[in-house]
Amino acid sequence: AAPTRYEAESATIAQGVVESNHSGYSGSGFVNTDNVTGSAVQWTVTLPSAANATLTIRYANGSGANRPADIIVNGAVVSAAGAFNATSAWTTWTDKTVTALLAAGTNTVRVAATTAQGTANLDYLDVEVSTAPTQTLL
Ligand code: GCU
Ligand code: CA
Repeated sequence: AAPTRYEAESATIAQGVVESNHSGYSGSGFVNTDNVTGSAVQWTVTLPSAANATLTIRYANGSGANRPADIIVNGAVVSAAGAFNATSAWTTWTDKTVTALLAAGTNTVRVAATTAQGTANLDYLDVEVSTAPTQTLL
């Protein structure tokens, strides 16, 4: 199925601010989390039924160094201190992708900094649900 986009500026922000001073973002801005451990953005994703999903997090990291972060789905870490490697500038955006099993109903997807540098700047979460192949009756 086509992905559904969830902008970071519409998500729950734990220690951070919405900004728009680095171009190339989607929507009305991006989240600049505070440069502290645990700063985070948390999205709510509601699905009609459980499904495997590809989670694509768009970010920019002009710091010159990795900004590792946990990716936490419904309270469970699915990517521990995952790399959000440096991009060439704060205006250069790239994707980090993980897969996770999402539940029917409300899910949370949280990206939380694991170092005192905070996260990369976060633009959006795209959620693409896998659909079962159509069965052909022989
Ligand atoms: C700069 C940049 C911010 C970024 C910050 C950081 O201040 O303008 O967008 O979030 O660095 O190092 O986290
Ligand atoms: Ca920051």
